[in-house]
Amino acid sequence: MACCILGIESSCDDTSAAVLRDGWLLSNVIASQDVHKAFGGVVPELASRAHEQNIVPVVSEALSRAGIAREDLSAIAFTRGPGLLGSLLVGSSFAKALSLSLDIPMVMVNHLQGHLLANFVKQEGAENRAPAFPYLCLLVSGGNSQIVRVDSPLEFEILGQTIDDAVGEAFDKCSKMLGLGYPGGPVIDRLARQGDPERFHFAKPHLPGLDYSFSGIKTSLLYFVRDEMAKDPSFLENNKEDLCASFQKTLIDILMDKLVKAARQTGIREITIGGGVSANSGLRERLVREGERRRWNTYLPEFKFTTDNAAMIAIAGYYRYLAGERCPMDIAPVSRMADF
Ligand code: KG4
Repeated sequence: MACCILGIESSCDDTSAAVLRDGWLLSNVIASQDVHKAFGGVVPELASRAHEQNIVPVVSEALSRAGIAREDLSAIAFTRGPGLLGSLLVGSSFAKALSLSLDIPMVMVNHLQGHLLANFVKQEGAENRAPAFPYLCLLVSGGNSQIVRVDSPLEFEILGQTIDDAVGEAFDKCSKMLGLGYPGGPVIDRLARQGDPERFHFAKPHLPGLDYSFSGIKTSLLYFVRDEMAKDPSFLENNKEDLCASFQKTLIDILMDKLVKAARQTGIREITIGGGVSANSGLRERLVREGERRRWNTYLPEFKFTTDNAAMIAIAGYYRYLAGERCPMDIAPVSRMADF
């Protein structure tokens, strides 16, 4: 019998539902929340309310696009955490209600594991390249910057991670500081394409091991712009492309230096990236280039799987379901998940 999994993702500001049949994607619906733009960041209370409004239509649409009835579902996979608690509560409560009404099991998924396994979602007409185990994933988003070793769909080990800000936060905070808007990553990415990445230089942190730090570069950019503006008030306006290109290059250098080190230390040549920042065009190009140079096999997720989506939750849940995992009704979502 076919195994149909309904995935539900509501960890931050995207309400998403997806249906997979035996690992093949039948639908992936995402309702994004524009309401946060005016505030320059996600407002948790507004996010929860929007999830509550979106969840029923989004799940209905996912089932309808998949062309299956609720009764055809084998299990429901939902994001337990990490994320905003109010947002997670909407998805998990909905999953529980549906699981009870259909009398089918639930599987809980760590959101980050979804990002790590995104390349395993199979799609009709696509290349469907997925890394062989073990592989390394550079997981980079608004909340995380980690290098993770993945030994199987159920076995993960964090080799290094940020000790302060996530790289996505550095993009977002610096964009705000430069008056470029929110979310900062896509804006800086776009402007960087027209700028000179070698024009300005920012100090890089010197951390031992495979850990990252991104708080210093933010301060470095802030002081640099402040000093230049004191000399020339139009400095920012006249140099924003070069500033973005140089700032982005520094972030990519920091990310890649440790990834190269991790690959060397582990001897692993299967390399992937995941999370919101993996949509960055500079990072993607650099990974491919480094991969060719170092004879890695590199895997870039499709853009639609870089941001939060339920397809990745459904695939992570699918493997857990096959392994016999089931989630009890009294499970509660958690905003932080210390480890895998
Ligand atoms: O994984 P994600 O959608 O969710 C959270 O972590 O909450 O990641 C969002 C992050 C934001 O910081 C956003 O600025 C960043 O991903 N991002 C990008 C790009 N697109 C999104 N950063 C750099 N370049 C991009 N093209």
